[in-house]
Amino acid sequence: MNIRILYRLSTLTRNIIRYATVTSAKPPRMEISGITKYASLHAAPNGPGDARPTALQIIQDEGLLGKLPDKVFLVTGCTSGIGVETAKALYATGARLFLPVRDLKKGVEVVEEIRSSYTGNQHAVELLHVELDSLDSLLKSTLLASATPEFPSRVVTVTSGAHGITAPLRDDYNFEKIAYDPWKSYGQSKSANIWMANEIERRYGSKGLHATSVTPGLIWSGLQKHVGEDVKKGWEELEDWKPLWKTAAQGAATTVWAAVGEAWKGKGGLLSHCQAWKPAEEEKDGYAAHAFDEEGEGVLWRDSCGMVGVEADGD
Ligand SMILES: NC(=O)c1ccc[n+]([C@@H]2O[C@H](COP(=O)([O-])OP(=O)(O)OC[C@H]3O[C@@H](n4cnc5c(N)ncnc54)[C@H](OP(=O)(O)O)[C@@H]3O)[C@@H](O)[C@H]2O)c1
Repeated sequence: MNIRILYRLSTLTRNIIRYATVTSAKPPRMEISGITKYASLHAAPNGPGDARPTALQIIQDEGLLGKLPDKVFLVTGCTSGIGVETAKALYATGARLFLPVRDLKKGVEVVEEIRSSYTGNQHAVELLHVELDSLDSLLKSTLLASATPEFPSRVVTVTSGAHGITAPLRDDYNFEKIAYDPWKSYGQSKSANIWMANEIERRYGSKGLHATSVTPGLIWSGLQKHVGEDVKKGWEELEDWKPLWKTAAQGAATTVWAAVGEAWKGKGGLLSHCQAWKPAEEEKDGYAAHAFDEEGEGVLWRDSCGMVGVEADGD
């Protein structure tokens, strides 16, 4: 089996980014031309496995099966749920995959699953034994150095509709002043995903490194182990939600579209259901006003750099 374990990096402080304060800044309009084909497929959802595209379908639609052998993708969160399907689809492009995992046993199992899901040329998958927050200094220079006008670099963060619960709690990321609230914590981390992508786009977009945030939809995955049985049961029984649930492979489609879709080449922005995400004032389940906050994004960036001990360049 061709698995190489490349690094074992000691963990810098593993801070889940946590934040507050909602300011409203006018979000930029996303001009994504010619993107209508996925809108109709999402118009009448019918539950997991319905006509909504899978991640692999996106790769096929983009004509990228086996076409990116000289490219590299790094997929975090790939040992469960949506990340596994994201990695499988990207593997099918022929690209070299780097999978940072905190649990090597799970990592080895997932590599086997990825490779056995693909019938084309078997190629390298590299496991990195790391914690997520030690990656920034490793990656940024590589992403910038490898960007070309023909193939700009892309960062894709996975957010959630739960970002609407709260903006990052800028005065109390770690709930040291206010009582811990798991939903606020999740909400702020999902807002922080968006703010990080916005800030990457602002700082590095002109240098060829772009960033998007995607919300995957509703997927039964490892994530629900964090909620109680009563909550899960309530979600299962919600009539309005029943048609909305997706398979993990469908949930990975928007991430993969952001990562390789021609429509997102050289762009930043927010995506949902394989479409540009609209603001809440324009559509139900649209993104919250605090999703764009230039000042807050800058503060979060600098604070995050401080937490993991890297310099915030580009100020
Ligand atoms: N499922 C949904 O309905 C849904 C909806 C909206 C947004 N999302 C977002 O989609 C993303 C993927 O979720 P999922 O549903 O696929 O969840 P999942 O099945 O629980 O997978 C989470 C992945 O992230 C890894 N991970 C979690 N915390 C980590 C940490 N501190 N350090 C390193 N790795 C860590 C896990 O690794 P281990 O295997 O080692 O635990 C696993 O690989 C998340 O960002 C989630 O917020 C999901």
